[in-house]
Amino acid sequence: NKNIVILISGGGSNMAAIVQASRARQWPARFGAKVAAVFSNKATAQGLVWAAGEGIPTGVVDHRQFAQREAFDAALMAQIDVHSPALVVLAGFMRILTPGFVQHYQNRLINIHPSLLPAFTGLNTHQRAIDMGCRFAGATVHRVTSELDHGAILDQAVVPVLPGDTAEALAGRVLTQEHIIYPRAVERLLAAMP
Ligand code: GAR
Repeated sequence: NKNIVILISGGGSNMAAIVQASRARQWPARFGAKVAAVFSNKATAQGLVWAAGEGIPTGVVDHRQFAQREAFDAALMAQIDVHSPALVVLAGFMRILTPGFVQHYQNRLINIHPSLLPAFTGLNTHQRAIDMGCRFAGATVHRVTSELDHGAILDQAVVPVLPGDTAEALAGRVLTQEHIIYPRAVERLLAAMP
């Protein structure tokens, strides 16, 4: 039984895309895989409401309750490990994880980042791409290493940057592609698991 645990901080549209793909593409029957739980570091994350409405167990580990990153990560790991996950999927999870967390989920931890990595690691990717005069932007699914937004690339999607683009317009164009490549990358990993 391959459990998928998804971590979010906000809207959770990528999380929802993965949950919907898991059903439409019959991951339980084909891979013995399901989205077992969704966790957020923010109680107000809208994605939690959607996940709960779908009958998926949800939880909150509020980073503000912890003085040290290590303590937050340990609490999060304890919640995640209840589900013995085959995959831990970061989907708009806006906290930097400690090397101890990354090592614990080595080969099981993936992220989506809203740029064509290795360009534009970090925040504010769309405005930075516009400001640089990029003609193309996109999104990257990658394995997580202890270096932020590094790690082997699993999939990418490219979108044009259009004349007069705003960060919001570009973000929306990229997000539409994220909803395609993230479920696809997860399915490929599931298919490759023994
Ligand atoms: C997505 O665009 C994702 O790539 C980005 O946040 C958005 C979350 O949207 N992630 C990062 O910036 C990670 N540093 P969602 O909550 O609707 O999936």
